[in-house]
Amino acid sequence: MAEGPAKQPVALITGASGGIGEAFAYELARDGHRLVLVARSDEELNRVAGVIATKLDVETVAIPHDLAKPHAADQLDAELRRRRLSPDVLVNNAGYGLRGEAVELDVHEQLEMIDLNIRTLTELTLRCARSMKQRGGGGIINVSSTAAYMPGPNMAVYYATKAFVGSFTEALSVELKPHGVQVTSVAPGPTATDFQRRADLDDSLLLKTQPVMSPEDVARIGYAGFKKGRRAVITGFPNKFLAHSAKFIPRSVLLPIIKRLQS
Ligand SMILES: NC(=O)c1ccc[n+]([C@@H]2O[C@H](COP(=O)([O-])OP(=O)(O)OC[C@H]3O[C@@H](n4cnc5c(N)ncnc54)[C@H](OP(=O)(O)O)[C@@H]3O)[C@@H](O)[C@H]2O)c1
Repeated sequence: MAEGPAKQPVALITGASGGIGEAFAYELARDGHRLVLVARSDEELNRVAGVIATKLDVETVAIPHDLAKPHAADQLDAELRRRRLSPDVLVNNAGYGLRGEAVELDVHEQLEMIDLNIRTLTELTLRCARSMKQRGGGGIINVSSTAAYMPGPNMAVYYATKAFVGSFTEALSVELKPHGVQVTSVAPGPTATDFQRRADLDDSLLLKTQPVMSPEDVARIGYAGFKKGRRAVITGFPNKFLAHSAKFIPRSVLLPIIKRLQS
């Protein structure tokens, strides 16, 4: 993929080898973007790139990269420069959660979650936002969660990472709006992806009792909100209701319910 002045805009999507990231890739491809897809699995990235090339006739570059590793954003930035690619849209979607009591879960895995969900997301956001601000245009979508709106016993670190994503993204949105750069947080609730398996949530009460959305609906609603210039999008009415009502429920009542849902 070569860059040229008359070419289509470039969208960089992390965690694009499946789930919500893959669905965002189709949304952005349909909206006229060339794509740079990043995740660890070379094979899955190439599968997504193949579907996009065949069905949508859009140029796609797959860059397999572990974004939880130290200097991951720096290395990705160097690779983009080498390929002379400067994203017009960044979708920070890669992330994972872990269910269990924080003190019982592996410390290293929880710190790696912070590296992926917070550290790399922040670094990619800041690097891209700086050049978008200089150019006077562009946009960033950071995938947060309804978890951003409340503490989450039995997934304590994950919920805290998403609180960071929501807070950081909304604040940045206000800073960058006057410079023509749109920044949006997208908060899904339970969504049918591989997230549940990796988080060990498959048999949880949460999934048995809450409505589960498709990743396609999440990406469609999230991208539409971004295009409308929204600062924060919560996908679907039940998720909006949960996130907003959490503000008014005493924590002494709310926290045991969340703990139970995630047991
Ligand atoms: N599903 C839900 O219920 C739900 C709800 C709220 C928020 N979210 C958020 O939505 C986002 C997408 O999750 P999903 O539901 O689509 O889950 P998913 O299907 O597990 O997708 C996660 C994506 O992130 C990539 N990824 C994971 N670790 C990575 C690493 N170290 N380096 C680079 N890429 C990595 C995965 O690809 P590889 O494995 O190939 O690296 C995959 O493409 C996450 O931020 C998640 O927190 C999900």
